Amino acid sequence: MSNALSQSEQKKLVGSTAIDRLIEEGLIKSNMKIGLGTGSTAMPAVHRLAERIADGTLSGIRAVATSYQTTLACEELGIPVYSLSSREIGGQLDLAIDGADEITPENNLIKGGGAAHLKEKLVEYSAAQLVIIADESKEVATLGTKFPLPVEVIAEGRVPVIAALEKLGAHCTIREGVKKAGPVITDNGNLIVDCVWDKPVDPVKLEDEIDRITGVVENGFFTKNHPLVFIAHADGTVTSRA
Ligand code: 5RP
Repeated sequence: MSNALSQSEQKKLVGSTAIDRLIEEGLIKSNMKIGLGTGSTAMPAVHRLAERIADGTLSGIRAVATSYQTTLACEELGIPVYSLSSREIGGQLDLAIDGADEITPENNLIKGGGAAHLKEKLVEYSAAQLVIIADESKEVATLGTKFPLPVEVIAEGRVPVIAALEKLGAHCTIREGVKKAGPVITDNGNLIVDCVWDKPVDPVKLEDEIDRITGVVENGFFTKNHPLVFIAHADGTVTSRA
């Protein structure tokens, strides 16, 4: 029988290992303002952070959540959670930790598989240190051809926005809900258009170009805050790279 860790075991491992290593290395300390991501890799990290608060390792942590999923988890686990623009946070964070859908060797990312990339980007581009945690399946050579790039769009503008995205070479699909008839509606009340290209694209250039389309709220390329990346592997190891 193989001892290889499954993808979900790798997600749990990397979430808790990253929190412990960041504490050991002094990158997470008491009284910090921390952004917390969304998804099945971010959740184990949120749980581990709550444990390290409960066991007295950390005190005075102020968190900013990137979605309703994360807000509810913080409330349930007793992590004090604030708005990014609250007086307690003042629009600036010491660190943010989150998962990703794809990561290149240059640490450029696609995020938004959970439709949370608008708040994730707001929070993570406001953090002095961004930390990305992932299982090894998220490592890719290039972006654009495999995992669809999520683009959050004002519903009223969907037709002209899709036409503009198609001019940039994208094949577009409005994301459908699961256990909900019709399209996904984001935490911010918008639609998600998922985009795939026939050939790899330049995420640095397209991150800005897509956001210039009127009616686009935000896209899921993350290239502007260079992250520290932790990757869990099937053999049970967790590697990191900056
Ligand atoms: C949510 C995200 C998530 O970080 C991304 O989709 C990865 O999710 P998971 O950890 O569940 O694989 O960007 O919008």
